[in-house]
Amino acid sequence: MKVINLFPLTICESKIEIDETERNILVSEIKKMRNEETSNKKTTYAWTGDNKGHEFLFSNNLFKNLANKISYEIIKYLKVLEINTDLLDIYYQRSWATFTEDDQQINFHTHSQSNISFAYYLMKPESSGGIIFKSNELQNEIAKNIFTSTKIEKSLINQPNIYNSDKSMFDPIQDSIFIFPSKTPHATLPNKSGFPRISISGDITIMLKNSKGFEHLMPNFKNWSKF
Ligand SMILES: [Fe+2]
Repeated sequence: MKVINLFPLTICESKIEIDETERNILVSEIKKMRNEETSNKKTTYAWTGDNKGHEFLFSNNLFKNLANKISYEIIKYLKVLEINTDLLDIYYQRSWATFTEDDQQINFHTHSQSNISFAYYLMKPESSGGIIFKSNELQNEIAKNIFTSTKIEKSLINQPNIYNSDKSMFDPIQDSIFIFPSKTPHATLPNKSGFPRISISGDITIMLKNSKGFEHLMPNFKNWSKF
């Protein structure tokens, strides 16, 4: 029997090359931001710069080279989706660092205010936790909750596979970048390496250079009226 898979969620993985001097500069800059924290109490959750007043990381000149390299990968992602980037203005809407100590993690969330998001692994020790993506809709769920983990434990489902799973985990290596639709729920697994994991995330907004004749995509903000 031929199995036909339709309507995929497309996540692109690529590699960014930076030299070790640059990595060290960026790591120490991120550590500086994190050390501004007045409370030293360790929590279950990672430090994420987006809600600590550091949500415009790429405005910092030290991160410009990295931002340019990431832009190149974002363009490639849009091309995979056959989107004509010549007609678009593309913006980093936000960008921030995450700092994950041992046993810390990030719960499922989306970045619903933007179009495309990414995670780049600036410092990724082995066993420091992967990224999990979750489906918004399990297309093959022929009966409600038929694919939940308890159904596997009770032998109703033989094993999880790409046809019956609503979650997929990746354990990226250092310098990997994952690019995905911002609306995709994602989380991280706990860091079990004994060393910090540092990633850089960002949200991208796309808008038409010229919205004439288009109805559904964001018109260029240069034409908006402020009240
Ligand atoms: Fe995220």
